[in-house]
Amino acid sequence: MAQWINGKIASVNIGRKKLESSLAHHFYNIDTVRHINYHNCIMCFAKIKNPIGECTFIEGEVYKEYGRPNDDGIFKGLRYSKMYDISENIYDLIPIRYRSKFYPPLLMRINSNVPPHTDSGVITSINWYLSPSKCATTFYSFKTNQNVISHKIENQTNGSIFDKSCLDIIGHFVAEPNDIWLLNVGQPHGVESLLPKLEIRTAIVWQTNEFSFNDVVDMLIETGHL
Ligand SMILES: [Fe+2]
Repeated sequence: MAQWINGKIASVNIGRKKLESSLAHHFYNIDTVRHINYHNCIMCFAKIKNPIGECTFIEGEVYKEYGRPNDDGIFKGLRYSKMYDISENIYDLIPIRYRSKFYPPLLMRINSNVPPHTDSGVITSINWYLSPSKCATTFYSFKTNQNVISHKIENQTNGSIFDKSCLDIIGHFVAEPNDIWLLNVGQPHGVESLLPKLEIRTAIVWQTNEFSFNDVVDMLIETGHL
């Protein structure tokens, strides 16, 4: 069976011989199929192929942050900084006609585990991991027939944090340095270090609140990066 979300195919049963769309057909016939998760018929992450070299930029001021100080007063959580003089190669991922609908790229730093959450004001994110540490990014779906248990922290708008008891795991990936992944951040997801001591994790994030995960999949196929 295929599931459709927002008028577009969201997934396919890969065991089925006849696929329901040209997009699904494309997925079925190229290597990227192994990066697409079909559990619960929701696609949440895809590894972007064709490395595009180094990204150079100048780090600017802090733009926003999600987290709180620990007992020693050290901020723990996610912090986004503005970026200036960014090398053009990152923009090659997306066709020119769509780029204005993406926010300017930001530098993301994470110095703690991140509980399952949905992002605020963003539904799809291209994450270029500069120093990903050794972390699992896990995606979840809501358990059926169970109330959603959630809360918000300061600065969260339409995003929320969810209790794991109301979630099922869809799948996870572990990014390597210089990996670029496409994430469906409107779906609950969290980050946990696989190392005994958590290292600071940095990534360039290029995000949109206008295009769904599947929309951006189409764009990456068009530019030859998926
Ligand atoms: Fe997130």
